[in-house]
Amino acid sequence: MKTLIMEPDFGKIEADVLVIGVREHPENTEGWEGVVRSFSPRLPEWIKSGDIKTEFKKIVKMPAIEERGYKRVFFIGLGLQKELTEDRLRQSFAAIGRELAAVKAVSVAIWTAPFTNDNLKCEDVVFAASEGIGLGLYKFEGYRTDSNERDVALETLSFLSEADEDELKAAFEVGKVHAFAVNEARNLVNMPSNILTATKMAAYAREVAEKYDFEIEILGKKEMEELGMGAILAVNKGSVEEPKLIVMKYAATEKWEDVVGLVGKGITYDTGGYSLKPKDGMVGMKGDMGGAAAVLGAMTIIGELRPAKNVIAVIASTDNMVSGEAFKPDDVITSLSGKTIEVLNTDAEGRLVLADAVTYAKQAGADCLIDVATLTGGVIVALGMDKTGALTNDEGFFEEFMQASMETGEFVWRLPLTESDKKRLRKSDVADLNNSPGRDGHMIFGGGFVGEFAGDTPWIHLDIAGTSDASAAHDLGPKGATGVMVRTLATLVERMADTDIEG
Ligand code: BES
Ligand code: ZN
Ligand code: ZN
Repeated sequence: MKTLIMEPDFGKIEADVLVIGVREHPENTEGWEGVVRSFSPRLPEWIKSGDIKTEFKKIVKMPAIEERGYKRVFFIGLGLQKELTEDRLRQSFAAIGRELAAVKAVSVAIWTAPFTNDNLKCEDVVFAASEGIGLGLYKFEGYRTDSNERDVALETLSFLSEADEDELKAAFEVGKVHAFAVNEARNLVNMPSNILTATKMAAYAREVAEKYDFEIEILGKKEMEELGMGAILAVNKGSVEEPKLIVMKYAATEKWEDVVGLVGKGITYDTGGYSLKPKDGMVGMKGDMGGAAAVLGAMTIIGELRPAKNVIAVIASTDNMVSGEAFKPDDVITSLSGKTIEVLNTDAEGRLVLADAVTYAKQAGADCLIDVATLTGGVIVALGMDKTGALTNDEGFFEEFMQASMETGEFVWRLPLTESDKKRLRKSDVADLNNSPGRDGHMIFGGGFVGEFAGDTPWIHLDIAGTSDASAAHDLGPKGATGVMVRTLATLVERMADTDIEG
């Protein structure tokens, strides 16, 4: 997808669709009237009569009424100008993206001025448009053989703006990269586990690493045994698929220091193991690698935008299966850290693989850690399907992270992790820790268990069990994988790079 920047002249547009934002009381805004009149002197009249809606995100589609360089006009309601935010823009453009897909548009022209206000400049509009439309257009291709639908890709996004062309182009590229990376993550999550095995995920990671010149190391079963990664190995025991620990390094500075570690849960399928899931609870567990996908997506953005911050990504991948060899409740395992774990529930497998991944990231030099995982059903009970749950051991780090999440509009809510919670994690007659202290508040135990391995290293845990997969179409995309946290993780790394530079 490429972009063209054009002067706002409605007589010269060449695009399938022209997009015009309509705010409440546009007549009060200087400049609007003149340009609008050059589009059609009747627009204010249509708004007044309610044929074109100013209500936020309401889209009215109109064919071009006379011979014009565009076939259709999409009017999108923006509500009150002063209430416009970057997030509202992103949502508006994602809604536009869905409609563009519906009419199979190849080229689109957007007049930027109506989307601006005191806080939102033309480049912000261009960023939100390329990101939002890219997200809204997404569709998982799937494996249907009876589909004869033509694949149509949007090729050109043009912006009618008087702002500086270079800045607009740069904003366009960032938005495009964000959408691409999120959509890549969505693809991974939507893929079934017979196709996306740990080995396949590792091959995908290798492609990403080669494209962006990351150092990459992929540990298989043998290497894990040599290192003593008893936790991920235990989860893998019932599987015929080889486990993989994917380690990627993005070195931004000459010295490998001040490293942020991104750790992802990459369970390609979670049957629950011997603590077997009921049949209805198992469907959808192909998405139990949403954390891994978020980390891979974030690395794609980092590879494209190359912030001045060292990053290590560690992804622990295997499926969680049953067989004569599978691990069982009551088993005691020794993790890479040396800590022993009493297994009370084989369905609490995510925290086990993350334990070894977090330890590995620390040993490889991570100075702060974020783990991302579809870890517990408990987070869904606590926060619903639209909020990511968080835990942390470091207020300052978490504050910085929240700034990033507010920038991207990905809602995160923190839960407490108390000393008495930790005590319950450490309660076992036979080992240092147990992997399932109880069902009450168990999101906290899931994340808190991972925190035992982070130790004193500043750490944030993100439980995306509710947010990784959408049961219906939503603001930024269709039903299915959301690619949640891809943008927030990358934005955090960018912010950390900026604060490092500023001292
Ligand atoms: N992968 C699941 C969590 C999950 C649930 C993800 C729903 C996405 C949607 C995880 O491994 C799991 O099974 N967790 C258990 C933990 C329990 C056994 C302590 C859970 O949440 O019930
Ligand atoms: Zn599980
Ligand atoms: Zn799981």
